[in-house]
Amino acid sequence: MADWFALERDIKAMLKQPEWDDGSIGPVLVRLAWHASGTYSKKDNTGGSDGATMRHAPESTDGANAGLEKARAMLEPLKKKYPAVSRADLWTLAGVISIEAMGGPRTPWYPGRTDKEKPKAAEVPPNGRLPDASQGAPHIRDVFYRMGFNDRDIVALSGAHTLGRCHPDRSGFSGPWTNTPTRFSNQYFKLLVNEKWTKKKWDGPEQYEDPSGELMMLPTDMALMWDPKFKAVVEEYAEDKETFFKDFSAAFGKLLELGVKRSASKL
Ligand code: HEM
Repeated sequence: MADWFALERDIKAMLKQPEWDDGSIGPVLVRLAWHASGTYSKKDNTGGSDGATMRHAPESTDGANAGLEKARAMLEPLKKKYPAVSRADLWTLAGVISIEAMGGPRTPWYPGRTDKEKPKAAEVPPNGRLPDASQGAPHIRDVFYRMGFNDRDIVALSGAHTLGRCHPDRSGFSGPWTNTPTRFSNQYFKLLVNEKWTKKKWDGPEQYEDPSGELMMLPTDMALMWDPKFKAVVEEYAEDKETFFKDFSAAFGKLLELGVKRSASKL
């Protein structure tokens, strides 16, 4: 039996890293948990976090996962320290602990994922299942409906962009969404509603900036304001942090469970 409490403490203890971005590796660990899980397709029950398949081609080569090799490498010492814990459990748990440690809600999380060391080709999801930030509402719906989410879940999950930043060498986009990128809150929604967002004039991909030029939104973030159904939920979360936290924790918990096959005897 793994000592889950000790592992949680060890994850929490490694989050603060002054040299890393804004001083915490929490945001990139949240992204790792999401990208490991967000390949799920309910149509054929493929993809998802089980198996920790992001270590294997073609998933390891998906441009959407650029930079996440660093997050995976940072968790390796914990894999060594807790060999009974699968990487698939470790990656998803690290996302959960990061959100809580940065001031967010606790997400329901269950162990029992197993790692696929030599997966068959059909067991590694193809590239292109994660969302493309340069697109609009129809694409966002295609991708998240494929996982089994609804419009409200989509907006709740997108609130994770209150954390972290874009890196030109990873995605091509640049900058943080909020002034508090290591604090989980509903700030992303407040900024979407209250700031004036204009297209950034630069050589990079289309993105939007606030009047200070310091904060950014992706086209997919702006799509949440341009689509009336999404916008109503954005406005609700901007006003009501408690409801956002409750909805986020439910949707993030569901995301991390997608496609997980566990037998009760393994728990
Ligand atoms: C970062 C796209 C949904 C969590 C990013 C980046 C892009 C992106 C382009 C910047 C990556 C980089 O340059 O390092 C999208 C799109 C989404 C989406 C297109 C959906 C339409 C989500 C969801 C979550 C999430 C559902 C979690 C629940 C994060 C976090 C970061 C991030 C925490 C910051 C990572 C860091 O600071 O290193 N996302 N994302 N995103 N995303 Fe998303």
